[in-house]
Amino acid sequence: GNQKLWGGRFAESTSALVEKFSESVSFDARLYRQDIAGSQAHARMLAKVGVLSETDAQAIVQGLDAIRDSIESGRFEWSEQLEDVHMNIEARLTEAIGEAGKRLHTGRSRNDQVATDLRLYVRDTIDALLPLIDRVTEGLLNLAEREADTVMPGFTHLQIAQPVSFGHHMLAWREQMLRDRSRLVDCRKRLNLLPLGAAALAGTVYPIDRHYVAELLGFDGVTENSLDTVSDRDFAIEFCSVASLIMVHLSRWSEELILWATPMFGFVNLPDRFCTGSSIMPQKKNPDVPELVRGKTGRVIGNLQALLVLMKGQPLAYNRDNQEDKPPLFDSVDTVRACLQVYAEMIPAIEVRRENCRAAAAKGYSTATDLADYLVRKGLPFRDAHHVVGSTVAYAQKKGCDIAELDLAELQAQSKLIEADVYACISLEGSLAARNHYGATAPTQVRAAIARARQRPS
Ligand code: ARG
Repeated sequence: GNQKLWGGRFAESTSALVEKFSESVSFDARLYRQDIAGSQAHARMLAKVGVLSETDAQAIVQGLDAIRDSIESGRFEWSEQLEDVHMNIEARLTEAIGEAGKRLHTGRSRNDQVATDLRLYVRDTIDALLPLIDRVTEGLLNLAEREADTVMPGFTHLQIAQPVSFGHHMLAWREQMLRDRSRLVDCRKRLNLLPLGAAALAGTVYPIDRHYVAELLGFDGVTENSLDTVSDRDFAIEFCSVASLIMVHLSRWSEELILWATPMFGFVNLPDRFCTGSSIMPQKKNPDVPELVRGKTGRVIGNLQALLVLMKGQPLAYNRDNQEDKPPLFDSVDTVRACLQVYAEMIPAIEVRRENCRAAAAKGYSTATDLADYLVRKGLPFRDAHHVVGSTVAYAQKKGCDIAELDLAELQAQSKLIEADVYACISLEGSLAARNHYGATAPTQVRAAIARARQRPS
């Protein structure tokens, strides 16, 4: 015979190889809290509708509390033979409280049980990530405030384009993360429906009260269709997709920080505690933290692909394939949490080397557009102005200086329209201050954006 919880119809016991191959407790044990909460709510409901006695329900709820304690104090012994987190806990419960433990699974299947555990787990994860995201965006806001007047080159094509405020750049990062935050909140809304009651796939014969269970577990309602419920992993895919976007953003920030920390840029210094050295080159201080974040992004994007491909061939309803949803999901959860944590710590510690930022902006003809706009204000059509400034830049380049370093006679040789007031326009500060409207880089606008951000809660 077969001693498993489901062993009744089996003539021989499971091969050791198959046990090892099919177990999931080695990775789904982390669902124990959600599994216990789900079982307790299920037992309470069974008692409420009269399927279980109050005494049995009490024994189940208390027995499960004790199991949670024993897991958290490291005393619980997980067994691969018991396959997964669900059967480990149920078997232990029956050992501890007897008959009543065996009644817990009435009107339920592991299919709706695991779907419930996972939704609760992703919900708990989102609730833990939101405050971390808030620390990151708050850090960016403070850094933006500190560096609102710091001029740096803005880039397009990684070529120096126009001067921008360093603070403006930090607020751009913040916008990316705010969108991620709202995506997490959306994902939470959509997943917050109770699967229990779908049972194996078709529902159950008992007079269950799904809405009561939903209420006990903090769900906003119950899922609509039992077949869909046990087969649906959209919520895990959505979460992994949001996690991928978070990582893509962190990875782009990392790329910029890595460049900025090189001696060639020299825009920032990352404190020693966020860097490591080289085992051979004594002079090296490497930006390992941003590099690792950039590297880990690949894993998280890969996890999303893994889930999409896992689902694409599955007919309704539950298939064991779904057990494979957990390693990629958990890996994305752990990775995105670790990366947000390290960024939350690192952002306030970024030291901006203002002189280098300014010098780079002064070097790259970043105010050439301002000279063209100046000529437009003097009546020249923009296309002609563009041409004049192009030739001015070529002249300055030959001379080896910036256009703001040319004297008035040299500028007037390029266009008669140029007068002494030009210098206020083609200076770095003049260029920055002139972009003075909602969403633009003038330091006054950066400060206005910060004030708005502090007013509206994220
Ligand atoms: N460990 C399984 C999973 O992760 C639990 C559900 C098992 N259901 C089943 N019919 N074998 O999906």
